[in-house]
Parts: sequence; C-alpha cells; structure tokens
Amino acid sequence: MSKLILVTGGTGFIGSHTVVELQQAGFDVVIVDNLSNSKAEVVDNIEKITGKRPLFECFDLSDRALTHEFFKKYTNIEAIIHFAAFKAVGESVQKPLEYYRNNLNALMNLLECMKEYGVNNFVFSSSCTVYGQPDKLPVTETTPRKPAESPYGNTKAVAEDIIRDFAHVNSQAKCLALRYFNPIGAHPSALIGESPVGVPNNLVPYITQTAAGLRKELSIFGNDYNTPDGTPIRDYINVVDLSKAHVVAINRLISGKNKVNYEYFNIGTGNGYSVMELVNAFIKATGVNLPYKIVGRRAGDIEKIWADTTLANNELGWKAEASIEDTLLSAWNWEKKCRNIE
Ligand code: UD1
Repeated sequence: MSKLILVTGGTGFIGSHTVVELQQAGFDVVIVDNLSNSKAEVVDNIEKITGKRPLFECFDLSDRALTHEFFKKYTNIEAIIHFAAFKAVGESVQKPLEYYRNNLNALMNLLECMKEYGVNNFVFSSSCTVYGQPDKLPVTETTPRKPAESPYGNTKAVAEDIIRDFAHVNSQAKCLALRYFNPIGAHPSALIGESPVGVPNNLVPYITQTAAGLRKELSIFGNDYNTPDGTPIRDYINVVDLSKAHVVAINRLISGKNKVNYEYFNIGTGNGYSVMELVNAFIKATGVNLPYKIVGRRAGDIEKIWADTTLANNELGWKAEASIEDTLLSAWNWEKKCRNIE
C-alpha cells in the first residue's frame, strides 16, 4: 500500500495549491475537508492540473469520533499537513467560541490520532499574526510573539503552544509550523485560486473583484500610518511558492533532517509592500483600471510587518521566487476565469 500525505483543508486556497505541488513531487494525497469554505469541484480541478485525482473524504475534523474512524480506515498516512481552520479575523471577534472549538478541537483530534495510529510527521499552517506589531523589522523566528489581536490570531498562537507541548512529550513525533505572511495569487493554470464567500476581507481578492466590476471601488483602510506613503506594509507571498515550502517541510520531516522535534519557520518574501504600492503594481501588471478611495483605518490592523527569511532560506533551502507583478497577474487571471471575462 503506497504511503499517503493527509492534507486537511485540501480544497481550500493554500491547501489546494499544496496538494498540486505534493502530487507533482510524486506524493499521493488524501484530502479531508468539510467544504465549509470551499467546493468539491476543486478536487476535479486539481486532477485537471496534475492528471492525478487525490483521494477525498468530506467530514469535520473537530468531530473526534469521525477523525478516529478516518485513521482506522487509512492506515498508510505518512504525514499530515493541517490547514483546515476558520480564518476570518473579523468574524472570529463575533464568534470566538466557534473559532476556538473548530480550530483547536480539530488540531487536538489530529495530534491524538497521530499518537494512537503511529503517524509521526506533522506540518502546521501558522501565521505571522503571532508576532503582532513587532518592535523591530524584519521579524526573525526569535522575535518575541505578542498577544493576539483577535480570537483567530489567538487560535494560531495557542495551536503552536499545543504542538510544542505535544512534541515535548512525544519524542517520536516530528512537528513543524510554517508562519505564513500574506498569501496571494493563484495557480498559473487559473484552475484553482482563492474563492472568498461573500464580500472579501482580504486585500487582493477585493482588488480583483473590484477590477472585475463586482465591487464599486476598493477602500484603502488608512493612509496616516508611519510608513513612506502612509498605507500599511505587508509581505505578500505567492501561493505557489508558499505551497512549495510545504513539500520541502514534508521531505525534511520524512527524511529526519529536522534539528529538533518542533521547529517553526517564517514563510514570506522578505520584501514589504504598502497597500498603495500593491494597488499600483496591480494596475501596472494588468493594465486594468482600479477605482479606489482612502477611508479610515480598520480596527485591529497593524502598521507594518515583513519577514526575515534567512532561516527558511538556509535551513529549508526554500526561497520565494515569483515577482509581485506575476503574482498579481495570476490572481487577476483566476478572477477573470471565475467571472468569464476575456
Ligand atoms: C489578516 C491576518 C492574517 C491572516 C489573513 C488571512 C492579522 C494581523 N492578520 O492579514 O493573520 O492570515 O488576514 O485572513 O490578523 N486592506 C485594505 N482594503 C481592503 C482590505 C485590506 O486597505 O479592502 C489593507 C489592510 O488594511 C492591510 C492590507 O490591506 O493593511 C492587508 O489586509 P488583509 O489582506 O486583510 O490581510 P492582513 O490583515 O494583513
């Protein structure tokens, strides 16, 4: 029986791109997703890209009994990449219990099953949100974490702690967290991408939907920050580059190249772009008009953050490659495909 990589949340934005990269690197994949924020047809589109259909099981990982059933059925799981989680910052403020229950129960069920069914390798989808507004930039992995600004952010910080404590007493387990900066873009095939439900919260989907005419104009949340043009700065990382970091992480754990049994890495480009710079890069890359207006700051937004990626570059041998223009163009091509725009 061939070994499988379990990708939870594998029909979601980052999950689906990671399944593609895993399959193209020769791995066999089983996806678990409850489709709460994605569609089953993503599995078809992954197959169109790779020529290989991933296995797919639809259930909720915060259900402990169902999670155990899964591991009883699939006895050949070699590693887990855990993406499945709620991720809307604003919604998490309104629904804290749903966020803690969903994000943390799913994690604990998976870790419990790792121990019980002898799965040793675990890659976790973490976030730069654990750094809050850092005192010094760029942030390295030794930059102190700050209290989270939202329940969503807190689920990532608490999840890291749970994994650290689990690894501490399970010496055979090998765990690795990737702290993503701002993932954007889409697969160059335009067969998979980001599909937010309703009005997008994140910048790039809002930009592409505005360019496509679905939204009247982009609201830029504040131009009075202490940055060169007054708009906040982020480290926008191409989703395909980000997905490749997961393949590297899986290979590291499977081959036992990890240094300790809980490691964490920043996954960004190392470059900060302001909102205004990103808007201008989009217009330049696509040639499409983008109406925008400056409005007040959004509650909970930090001023600026970007990654020091030295550790990921040296230790994982991974580096972001795509240019911001190509990445924005890929996001636009995906939006056009979704809206049937020529
Ligand atoms: C947030 C979370 C991050 C999470 C990500 C995905 C924090 C600090 N960050 O990132 O952990 O992984 O969401 O959900 O919790 N902007 C506008 N207009 C818009 C939308 C956004 O000007 O319509 C600006 C924001 O003010 C911000 C930048 O664009 O400066 C990026 O915003 P967004 O894409 O929402 O990501 P973050 O808030 O950085």
